[in-house]
Amino acid sequence: MYSLTSIIALGATIFAAFANANGASDKPCPPTKADVQVPACPSTVTVRFDKTIPEQTACPLTTIGLCYTSTALNLVFTAYGETNFYFDPSQTTNGDIWAYEVMEAFIYKGTDNPQTYFEYEVSPNNVTYNSFVYNPSRVRTTGAPFDHAFISDPFGDGFKVTTALDKPNHKWVSTSSIPLALFNAENPKGTNWRMNFFRTVTGPTTYPNQQLCGWKNTGKASFHITPAFGTVAFI
Ligand SMILES: *[C@@H]1O[C@H](CO)[C@@H](O)[C@H](O)[C@H]1NC(C)=O
Repeated sequence: MYSLTSIIALGATIFAAFANANGASDKPCPPTKADVQVPACPSTVTVRFDKTIPEQTACPLTTIGLCYTSTALNLVFTAYGETNFYFDPSQTTNGDIWAYEVMEAFIYKGTDNPQTYFEYEVSPNNVTYNSFVYNPSRVRTTGAPFDHAFISDPFGDGFKVTTALDKPNHKWVSTSSIPLALFNAENPKGTNWRMNFFRTVTGPTTYPNQQLCGWKNTGKASFHITPAFGTVAFI
């Protein structure tokens, strides 16, 4: 027979163990509930998407492999089904590469719907776009402020990127590394994040029109809708 007191004590022990396993009992988003659980490198988790935003029609497959070290978030972006490899060769770091073909990650450390987040993009020409976005309406409301704070020297700051085009197999791969100090998030085990991932598809006959592809549907022809960001736990 178990006394009521021992059952209560057992319950408290189980609760304490559960809270402890999740790092702290005040974390609003336990890792096990997140859409994606990012492991320490060299393990990786892969996010994949193949639908347009917002229509949810077919897009070529995009995958992003994610893992973390004590100082960096590593992302391997792979664009499949690529036919155009379309970019403007005159563009350099932080240019408007988003008008052509890019793969993108929107990144925020925290669990709420952010008003400021980091936008990272890479083009088939190995050019990157690195900027914090100030979007206080969270949905880029017409007339509301919408601003950028660029990282002016990403490679000096410890960012890394390499990009390989595989034209015969209609594929390009960008391997990127983003410093966690940017988010005050070194040694990130147990932290919870919000992210979304995108890809733009265009070419010489369709530019400037683009197919917008994304992981979490924003419900609009816009990427800057933060309540749609997925939940990501670093485990
Ligand atoms: C891509 O750009 C980075 C940063 O400038 C550089 O280190 C790398 O060698 C470049 N080239 C390729 C093919 O990835």
